[in-house]
Amino acid sequence: MNILITGGASDIAFAIAKSRSQMGDAIYITSSNQASLEKTINTYRQQGLEVFGIVYDFNTAAQSIDAFNQLNDTPIHAIVFNAFTRMKRFRKFHEWSMDDFHGYADNNIRGHLEITHRFLPQMIEQQYGRLVLVSSVSAVTGTSRYGAYCMAKAALEGFFTNLAVEYSKDNILSNVLRLGLMKTSRTKLFWQKKDYQDKVNRIIPQGHMGTPEHVAHAIEPLLAKKCYMTGSIVNVSGGLPLVSSVE
Ligand SMILES: NC(=O)c1ccc[n+]([C@@H]2O[C@H](COP(=O)([O-])OP(=O)(O)OC[C@H]3O[C@@H](n4cnc5c(N)ncnc54)[C@H](OP(=O)(O)O)[C@@H]3O)[C@@H](O)[C@H]2O)c1
Repeated sequence: MNILITGGASDIAFAIAKSRSQMGDAIYITSSNQASLEKTINTYRQQGLEVFGIVYDFNTAAQSIDAFNQLNDTPIHAIVFNAFTRMKRFRKFHEWSMDDFHGYADNNIRGHLEITHRFLPQMIEQQYGRLVLVSSVSAVTGTSRYGAYCMAKAALEGFFTNLAVEYSKDNILSNVLRLGLMKTSRTKLFWQKKDYQDKVNRIIPQGHMGTPEHVAHAIEPLLAKKCYMTGSIVNVSGGLPLVSSVE
């Protein structure tokens, strides 16, 4: 199977790529710019993983979508929508300019729509596709000063649910992985602090944060040929948004 994973530099993308390539899949990744792509491909190579990389930037999605033409007629069987722009500043809604708030959400949404639009005709023709959105429990719980992120993830969940309605008869299955608090480089700022760890460990029903390997494990059934899941929302969160209330 040929799998496209967006946001190849992410620890979560790497864990999925590693486990799927061990299963014999060919991996295609994206990076938001050339420097990041080269660095990422080198990192993968150092870990013994050969991947094909494409520069695709959500902020210029309508133009950079043409980069996928490099693939020519290579059939893509599955897409893991993992890339997402990091929030640079954490602000309440009224502290954002309308252009910045809308721009953040719109670019992330457009980035997903362009890829889906680009690959659906091919998937319809081959009567095979596995689409997985990497979302967040924040889409349903909200998170302080993360409004634009929560809004964009929630909108995309709606879109991916609708893809399940429209394309499952073509054997193009669309599902959502809703992640909780995962230990990645993006969240290291928080989890490297013991106080933070202690606080979240008390709340998470399983008692600890997740890892990229947990996501790689959870995605397996959604990428399987015999998958009978579509339109599903799968929590990979140690139980969140349920919370533990005992010490
Ligand atoms: N970590 C968590 O606790 C957590 C929780 C819930 C959901 N998630 C979701 O899991 C996914 C991966 O998270 P992560 O923690 O591994 O995040 P991360 O380290 O910030 O990785 C994000 C990826 O998105 C790419 N990206 C950023 N801006 C982009 C743009 N403008 N255009 C195209 N690609 C862009 C980055 O590529 P470049 O480096 O090439 O720019 C990077 O590979 C995200 O969708 C995130 O929302 C994570």
